[in-house]
Amino acid sequence: MNILVTGGAGYIGSHAVAALCERGHQAVVVDNLVKGHRAAVGDAKLYVGSIGDEQFMDRVFAENKIDGVMHFAAFSLVGESMSQPYEYYNNNVCESMHLFHSMVKNGVNHIVFSSTAATFGEPLEIPISEKTPQNPINTYGETKLAMEKMLKWFGAAYGLNSICLRYFNVAGAHPSGKIGEDHRPETHLIPIVLQAAAGRRESISIFGDDYPTADGSCVRDYIHVTDLADAHILALEYMMRKNCSDAFNLGSGGGYSNLQILETAKRVTGRPIPSKIEARRPGDPPVLIASSDKAERLLGWKRKYGIEEIISTAWKWHESHPNGYGD
Ligand code: UFG
Repeated sequence: MNILVTGGAGYIGSHAVAALCERGHQAVVVDNLVKGHRAAVGDAKLYVGSIGDEQFMDRVFAENKIDGVMHFAAFSLVGESMSQPYEYYNNNVCESMHLFHSMVKNGVNHIVFSSTAATFGEPLEIPISEKTPQNPINTYGETKLAMEKMLKWFGAAYGLNSICLRYFNVAGAHPSGKIGEDHRPETHLIPIVLQAAAGRRESISIFGDDYPTADGSCVRDYIHVTDLADAHILALEYMMRKNCSDAFNLGSGGGYSNLQILETAKRVTGRPIPSKIEARRPGDPPVLIASSDKAERLLGWKRKYGIEEIISTAWKWHESHPNGYGD
């Protein structure tokens, strides 16, 4: 297949590009390189530009016979989204609308969309299934839910098939160590813990130890970025085979508390990781755990990596790339 990967120079997008290439598919990347890194794309063809620029996208579609799209390009920081709703609606919702329109104009009818657990807000049930009501509590989650809904109506009117994949906490790096996570600034727990293990931070702050959980810290469901990339390929194949639209939650069905992540990272790296407890971070639900039964049943998706491998592959990347991609 010839797959257009938007945001293919970003963390998850670059792992999808690698997974496609490893399976003998062609990946064509569109990325504006605002957050992404040219070196993350590898040998795939890269177009630098905006997915919201329809003239530019018409050219990309004209120059490549595209079978389907994997759409990762988006802003994705919950905290930032609360102070910059204009930027989030503009970059995520408006730009995506033009991408979907370009696809329809150019006769490309299959898209796998990168959605998020944040569309569920403070869920009414654990584990969270595809039937759990979606009530975001932050702007980021709202923009992703708006895009899910837009896809539904584009599907009804224009025949654009879509599969929305709602990921829980994505971490880890390609087992080869050649690509990994390089966010500036970094806000996610596992990379921050590993930066502290590597001595590049003095200590790590655990936000809150008074949640209604076993050890008082928040519980999250971690999924390896390579397992996630595999799910995108399976979703694309499923959508093309069935000529359908659908949505799937992707996690592990189990959770680890922030303090458990810290302890696991100490064990995996063999390094001391100084930590302190700080106040809760606003907007953090106490527990987020996905049911991935539907993805396992219908897509045939099976996770290969557990938390130890998630942390050890991330550690391999961090150790071999102390300055990330260095750009
Ligand atoms: N945390 C700390 N210290 C830190 C950083 C994070 O204690 O320095 C805690 C957070 O408070 C939270 C947990 O670690 O309890 C996980 O936080 P992350 O920032 O790593 O991830 P989130 O769960 O906040 O967010 C992730 C994705 C979002 C997505 C969300 C869905 O990054 O894009 O999952 O729930 F929307």
